[in-house]
Amino acid sequence: MTVTDRTTDRTTDPTTVREGAGFPRFPRGFFFGAATASYQIEGAHDVGGRGPSIWDTYCREPGRVAEGATGDIACDHYHRYREDVALLRELGVDSYRFSVAWPRVQPTGAGPANAEGLDFYDRLVDELLAAGIAPAATLYHWDLPQALEDRGGWRVRETAERFAEYTRLVVDRLGDRVDRWITLNEPFCSAFVGYAIGRHAPGAREGRGALAAAHHLLVGHGLAVRALREAGAREVGITLNPDRLLPATESPADLAAVRRAETLHNAVWLDPLFAGRYPEHERETWGDLADGSYRREGDLITIAAPLDFVGVNYYRPITIADAPHRAADPAARTAVDIGVEESWRQDVRRTTMGWPVVPHTFTDLLVDLGRRYPELPPVIITENGSAEDDSVADDGQVHDADRVAYLRDHLHALAAAVDAGVDVRGYYVWSLMDNFEWAFGYAKRFGIVRVDYDTLERLPKDSYRWYRELIAHHKQEW
Ligand code: NOJ
Repeated sequence: MTVTDRTTDRTTDPTTVREGAGFPRFPRGFFFGAATASYQIEGAHDVGGRGPSIWDTYCREPGRVAEGATGDIACDHYHRYREDVALLRELGVDSYRFSVAWPRVQPTGAGPANAEGLDFYDRLVDELLAAGIAPAATLYHWDLPQALEDRGGWRVRETAERFAEYTRLVVDRLGDRVDRWITLNEPFCSAFVGYAIGRHAPGAREGRGALAAAHHLLVGHGLAVRALREAGAREVGITLNPDRLLPATESPADLAAVRRAETLHNAVWLDPLFAGRYPEHERETWGDLADGSYRREGDLITIAAPLDFVGVNYYRPITIADAPHRAADPAARTAVDIGVEESWRQDVRRTTMGWPVVPHTFTDLLVDLGRRYPELPPVIITENGSAEDDSVADDGQVHDADRVAYLRDHLHALAAAVDAGVDVRGYYVWSLMDNFEWAFGYAKRFGIVRVDYDTLERLPKDSYRWYRELIAHHKQEW
């Protein structure tokens, strides 16, 4: 891959990205899509034999999720998928990224498939194909069957093996019509937000457990890739959320802090997947927590199975500074307590998540990834978008100008990465519709379609119309 290293001047000179211009240009064959995830939109939590997931449990624990929200109903996509596919068709997308809920397919995470659960995805896939939209299925977007968590969850290897069995059931049923498969979505969140800081299900606060979870997620990915290949799957990848980490100052202490944060956010995934090694600085980052006792010979080979693409979810950069460890007692430390402080830039616009809007960091991240990992497969942007304070105006419409600007500027930044030589094949906006934003409940709206949670009505926003025009423009050009 030939890339131009403009990382440094991009970082200091954001004007190198043509933010604010008209529609960005993408190469012939570049595709556009929209993304969602099962627990965030489906609802119907006790319909069709679905078993409980760790998110059903977590949402019921007081104080975990804003306003005690749950995914019980969510957007009721399970019953309204036809209407949602019609919105996708009208949008003109080439592809739709959804996730399969493991507890619909295997209510207890083991044993034969629950036919009714698979039937739902069968209907969805057929509906998409009839609308001329290519389905892209994510196999794990965080809804682990609760029964597996009760046996140790991702802390134990058995879950990785079960994941491969579940993958086999899904691909056997849908593999004749689904071409694009994503094993895991953001395993960083599953391992560290779920098992170290406890802000996602299952809500654990552990050190070694979280590092074991990270490893078993990767092993599960590798075993699932094998199952997909055996079933003849055509396009196989994983979705990561590599972060663009910027030092608070150039001091040696802050630069060392960035190195530790790089290990936690990026190298722990990218090194085993694309460089066939465990991260270089893991001892420096985690000390004795990284005892590696959960690793077995041959794991690296399983994990590094060749992929057809890597999915990248990107939203915002993070600023990193050196900071004392929070827990004085090393035994009480979690895997994320690596002696750094993360903050968001204050000098730029921030979305309602508090995330700074710095589009050129998207270019920098992608250029840098290509440079650091020469074996990186082609990239697909599997998520990008923004949560904004939307409201319905007097004319009955949602004029989400901030979201339009966010998408426009990030798509320009993406086009700049392509121009610089990064092999990016497509882009999925997050999200087709407003949905359950995990610990934030329904308070954060990422959709290009508004969902009225009282009536469940869908209302396309200005951003939906802007994205539709962009797609039409791209098709016209080629
Ligand atoms: C990443 C996750 O994959 C998705 O589920 C979430 O809603 C978005 N980021 C926004 O936070």
